[in-house]
Amino acid sequence: MTRPLQGALIGFGFIAEKGHVPAYLSSPDAFDIVAVAEVCAARREKAKQVLPKARIYPDTKTLLAAEAKNLDFVDIATPPCDHAAIAHAAFEHGLHVFCEKPIATSGADARSMLDHAERVKRVFFPSHNYKHAPVIKAIRQVLESEELGPIHLVTLDTFRTTHAKGVAEWQPDWRRHRKTSGGGIAMDHGSHTFYLAFDWLASQPTAIAAKMSNLSAFDTEDNFNCTVTFPGGLAVAQLTWNSGFRKVIYTIHGAHGAIKVEDDDIEIHRKRAGGKVDVEKLSAASHWMDASHAEWFKYLHKDFVRQIRTGEWVGKEARDAAMCVQLIETAYASARADGRELELAPVRTAAKAG
Ligand SMILES: NC(=O)c1ccc[n+]([C@@H]2O[C@H](COP(=O)([O-])OP(=O)(O)OC[C@H]3O[C@@H](n4cnc5c(N)ncnc54)[C@H](O)[C@@H]3O)[C@@H](O)[C@H]2O)c1
Repeated sequence: MTRPLQGALIGFGFIAEKGHVPAYLSSPDAFDIVAVAEVCAARREKAKQVLPKARIYPDTKTLLAAEAKNLDFVDIATPPCDHAAIAHAAFEHGLHVFCEKPIATSGADARSMLDHAERVKRVFFPSHNYKHAPVIKAIRQVLESEELGPIHLVTLDTFRTTHAKGVAEWQPDWRRHRKTSGGGIAMDHGSHTFYLAFDWLASQPTAIAAKMSNLSAFDTEDNFNCTVTFPGGLAVAQLTWNSGFRKVIYTIHGAHGAIKVEDDDIEIHRKRAGGKVDVEKLSAASHWMDASHAEWFKYLHKDFVRQIRTGEWVGKEARDAAMCVQLIETAYASARADGRELELAPVRTAAKAG
């Protein structure tokens, strides 16, 4: 039997405590979280309560100096501005990296993380947890049956009444400060939107045109919309922190029908002969209101372990994550240019480009 992977959490805020840790604790044969680095004293206290056996450090550097020789991986759950530096430090110590989204705040940083992983032969794995929402898995099954034919249009709407808050003890509004977040709702939520679009249109995007606005006094956008071009179709996304309700609404359109998702409710529309359309209604409880999505992390963790065991240092998820950041960065450039469409280069890691 293989021993559990020894891991360290970097950042012990909302998603680490409520999402990542419950999933690790539910798989003691696979994971042992032995250390935590956390800059906020009150959050270090919380980490001690939740993980009494873990050794707690005030920063990544001190943790790595003391613990790296005993570790297999780090899990980065800090705000995005620090993801790249922490990932590089972990790779330098020969560790695998599990990293929250967005993996970086610039396309160049994202690519450098993937290149570093390839160079040192360690896994870089992003936290694309929405893929494991029951409702998203139900969509995948329908798409895999190919009954809808080629997909030519997807729409992805995310309505929120406010920005998500970080833990009260640190900086609950960090998502609204560009220096910490790298951007507003597109940087915060765009990754989820875009990696789903890549999957549903079964390809990588080639161009993006975006518009955005900011109704707040913060320096980041809170309304964002974009049209993303793919070789076989379009993805149109709308994200807002200014809605009157909290909801996700996705639609997926193929030659022979369409899927509509509103939170947990799925409608499958199948075009029949003579212009008839059959509608099947399903429900897949995905608990969208619970922002920790604790259940979904177990599946991500399994994929992370599989890639470690098989030596898949930079897989599709990592390349998608880098493309998400490149898309968001290009969307911001498009919005600054009054919504002009801008082209995207495919993401290649150093090894693949060779
Ligand atoms: N995948 C998802 O569904 C999901 C959901 C929520 C958050 N997130 C992502 O997780 C990350 C954290 O978000 P959150 O909501 O947990 O934020 P949070 O503010 O609740 O937690 C961040 C924690 O990191 C600590 N921290 C800040 N800088 C640090 C550093 N350099 N080293 C060590 N600790 C540091 C803070 O003190 C805080 O405790 C973000 O990238 C966010 O986008 C993902």
